Amino acid sequence: MILVTGGAGYIGAHVAVELMNRGDAVLILDNLCNSSRTTVQRIAKVVGREPGFIHADVRNRRALDNVFKEYPIEAVVHCAGLKAVGESVREPLRYFETNVSGSVTLCQAMADAGVFKLVFSSSATVYGDCAQMPIAETCPTGQPTNPYGQSKLMAEHVMRSMAASDGRWSVGLLRYFNPIGAHFSGQLGETPTQTPNNLLPYLLQVANRERDVLRIFGSDYPTPDGTGIRDYVHVMDLAEGHLRAMEFLREQTGVHIWNLGTGRGYSVLEVVSAFERVTGVTVPLAFEPRRPGDIARCWADPGKAAGQLGWTARHGLERMLQDAWRWQCLNFPRIEPREVVLRSIEQG
Ligand code: NAD
Ligand code: WQD
Repeated sequence: MILVTGGAGYIGAHVAVELMNRGDAVLILDNLCNSSRTTVQRIAKVVGREPGFIHADVRNRRALDNVFKEYPIEAVVHCAGLKAVGESVREPLRYFETNVSGSVTLCQAMADAGVFKLVFSSSATVYGDCAQMPIAETCPTGQPTNPYGQSKLMAEHVMRSMAASDGRWSVGLLRYFNPIGAHFSGQLGETPTQTPNNLLPYLLQVANRERDVLRIFGSDYPTPDGTGIRDYVHVMDLAEGHLRAMEFLREQTGVHIWNLGTGRGYSVLEVVSAFERVTGVTVPLAFEPRRPGDIARCWADPGKAAGQLGWTARHGLERMLQDAWRWQCLNFPRIEPREVVLRSIEQG
């Protein structure tokens, strides 16, 4: 049985589905601070059987001990965490407590229970403003400019030191680039509970006429069209990466770092025009100054994951946008005329 912390969240839910589709038993542990039980029901609907679910906090050592006592957990995928950059600036202690202390508590409980296989949701944010593109795992980690990024880098350090001190650990640090998209069924996707910070959820709300305009943060970057370039990766490809990492860690000990990205970057304007092309929906834009802390360019060299895990992202940008839009239309229906929505669903 595999424990997926944060399994009611965006990425964890897709990982849980893919683990279950492979035949694994999955237990989700989530405190539901940024998700809801509905997602667990949706996972059951998509897969055709229910995952286990424990409503608990990764900072709660007693709850974790009980889980490891009661269930035959062989490995953990640790997705639970807080991820809003702006919020992390306002509430740094909450971020360090959840993302760092929560990870320490989880690792302590795992070690005491004799469970030494761990896949961790890390982030390309740990590279900071990397001078070299594409970014390989050998690039030095940078100095993340916000407590969120710092907490991810600190959690990585915790896990590296831990594995260096005890050879029984098998740890995969998965550095996600920019996960977007949704489950192909339209039944699972990202459900922002606050005003979205990230490009895609914001764009989807504008396209759905829940917001007036997409603000483009910066049009004077040293990029071909002046807007920021990122490596967007389909959440289903990302989920598959976790499965491959887990297989690798069954055979290998130590700490292994893999970038999960496509290796191709798209600018904000390219994302918007691809979205308009695949959905037929126009997105009103407003150009604004750069967002503090943003970098101009960030895309992965995914060669290590390809070589060691046999993993490459299979879905291109248009597919990511189509799947995200299907999720948005089915679950947050607003836009008229309905034909636009139906057309994009049929295309999927
Ligand atoms: P999410 O908020 O949708 O999911 C995180 C889940 O963790 C939520 O269900 C939340 O309720 C749960 N959680 C938070 N604190 C918890 C705690 N103390 N105990 C138990 N559960 C807790 O976010 P996501 O996009 O699915 O991100 C998952 C992980 O991937 C996070 O660790 C995030 O930092 C990392 N990550 C995300 C992105 C991204 O762009 N989405 C990029 C890189 C890394
Ligand atoms: C992408 C591009 C923006 C919103 C952040 C975190 C990072 C990671 C993913 C978890 C940039 C532009 C955005 C908008 C815009 N999370 N943009 N208008 O900044 O690459 O990374 O999320 O680890 O840690 O820092 O992603 O989606 O916010 O932005 O113009 O309303 O879209 O400036 O160029 P980012 P993003």
